[in-house]
Amino acid sequence: MMEIKKVGVLGCGLMGSGIAQVAAQSGYSTTVLEVSRELLDTGLKRIDQFLAAGVAKGKVRPEERQATLSRLSGTTDYESLKDCDLVIEAVIENLEAKREAFSRLERSLKKEAILASNTSSLSITEMAIATKRPQRFVGLHFFNPVPLMKLVEVIRTIRTEPAVEETVVGFAKNLGKVPVRTLDRTGFIVNRLLVPYILDAIRALEEGVGSISDIDQGMKLGCGHPMGPLTLLDLVGIDTTYYIADIMFDEFRDRRFAPPPLMKRMVLAGFHGRKTGRGFYDYASEPPRANDFLTQR
Ligand code: CAA
Repeated sequence: MMEIKKVGVLGCGLMGSGIAQVAAQSGYSTTVLEVSRELLDTGLKRIDQFLAAGVAKGKVRPEERQATLSRLSGTTDYESLKDCDLVIEAVIENLEAKREAFSRLERSLKKEAILASNTSSLSITEMAIATKRPQRFVGLHFFNPVPLMKLVEVIRTIRTEPAVEETVVGFAKNLGKVPVRTLDRTGFIVNRLLVPYILDAIRALEEGVGSISDIDQGMKLGCGHPMGPLTLLDLVGIDTTYYIADIMFDEFRDRRFAPPPLMKRMVLAGFHGRKTGRGFYDYASEPPRANDFLTQR
């Protein structure tokens, strides 16, 4: 097994910033890359705020916050990642964008480094074969919010060397996560089961089975879920979930994965969930108010 010392993360959005944070918090020297200084600053600020909130809640020691930040650096230059042992990609859910990021990275990255993608739905094999090292390529799928969610899906392709899979499983454990192994099938384990469920919640809303808050309360209190499906959609991002569902529909050609019409309209209208301030709920008020007009005539 290879020893991972230096970690790189491509993308400092919702997922990338969380991944960079837990890597740095777990003792790895971590460099996170964004395409612009502005996006980088936003991502690094998110990390700092999460750590600060952790200190306020008594979950993170002040010196741990400082140590984490000292192990973390941000960059807009791919060259800064050249010495990384493992680079985790968390850029937008678009195959071309991901391939482009890997290709720029590989111009300077050392040969033995392992590449991983945090994709939720794209084919790991399709990404791996576009790189110079498909045998050193895996999927490493984290869950939102990354610092709080225990699970990591580790995905090997039929080209992945067993030692590389073992190295990454060990890395996930070092982050304090619980790794599960899965094959390269769109959606892996969790989204294969989760996506039809959350899309069905939108269909139930469209059909008038229940209101936004009643659907959420129903699943929260009736099934013991930590949050209802529409609140979860707002957390993950309605745009992100739409793209995931669309890719899964394309792979399986099964209507369980087909995004419902309301979802597409919400994406087009900028109702992307918490990150845009509104989705199924409006986040301008506290507590957030259900947007019941979404299904009214
Ligand atoms: N630093 C450290 N710890 C923190 C923290 C911080 N900034 N903020 C919160 N915590 C801790 C809290 O102290 C608390 O710890 P205890 O359980 O020990 O008390 C714990 O984290 C939970 O936090 P809260 O009590 O503030 O919040 P909560 O109980 O409402 O839980 C949640 C929040 C973890 C997000 C929970 O609601 C949950 O699990 N929701 C479901 C999320 C989910 O399903 N995510 C998966 C989405 S799918 C995906 O990501 C994959 C994909 O491909 C689409």
